[in-house]
Amino acid sequence: MASNLPIGIFDSGVGGTSIWKEIEDLLPYENTIYLADSQNAPYGNRSVDEIISLCIKNTELLLDLNCKIIVVACNTATTNAISYLRDNYQVPFIGIEPAIKPAALMTNSNSIGILATRGTLNSQLFSTTSKEHTQGIKITEVIGEGLVQLIEQGNIDSQEMTDLLKSYLKPMLDAEIDHLVLGCSHYPYLIPKLRELLPNRIQIIDSGEAVARQTKNILDKNRLLNNEKITPYHQFYSNSTTSVIHELLMDHANSIRVEQKEF
Ligand code: DGL
Repeated sequence: MASNLPIGIFDSGVGGTSIWKEIEDLLPYENTIYLADSQNAPYGNRSVDEIISLCIKNTELLLDLNCKIIVVACNTATTNAISYLRDNYQVPFIGIEPAIKPAALMTNSNSIGILATRGTLNSQLFSTTSKEHTQGIKITEVIGEGLVQLIEQGNIDSQEMTDLLKSYLKPMLDAEIDHLVLGCSHYPYLIPKLRELLPNRIQIIDSGEAVARQTKNILDKNRLLNNEKITPYHQFYSNSTTSVIHELLMDHANSIRVEQKEF
């Protein structure tokens, strides 16, 4: 397989662009294709079967577009569908899961909070990982109901967002957490707001950088890193409005192409 083929990335919507930024930063010579399945967001309230069939649809499109590796830039899709994808396709898959292990290793108060979708928190994979790494640690899990929808609408700075976040953080503050794990790739866009609402002693942890590092490792292992020092292309497809992607990737406006596409 040619190493200059693109890295394929998909998410239920615009949130995985937070992962795309980390990948672009770490791997500046890689071409990328990103699918925002915003028409079907949020995945978090769907059944496992529905999530798997949406992931199949996204994967097949990325394979038709000749991607050499697929990054599932969505915790809900990873925790519900990645084993299916790995069992059924030959291409390497990179997933994203809530970073509970590092939080559990670093906590001093023995209390950590996790904000994620219903689909992630209820998944088998999350429950196994959580049990494995958090013995003796108090975990406060909160479903971020409605957060993905507000981000998809471009309403990050709304009063509704602030009110929702305040209500979701309350049980975590009551539990005296010292680490907040962001278990959804949309949520890194909430970090400025979360910083305003949380005391400084609480660390916010997300998995974006780790996903980029893992993507690099797996490409390297498969001899698929693009060694040519090219100016890469970055193609974004959304099956809904493209305006929020433009807004979130304003700093990259000159190097990306964003188009609407049915898929
Ligand atoms: N970005 C997705 C995730 O990481 C959002 C899930 C959803 O669409 O509900 O879980």
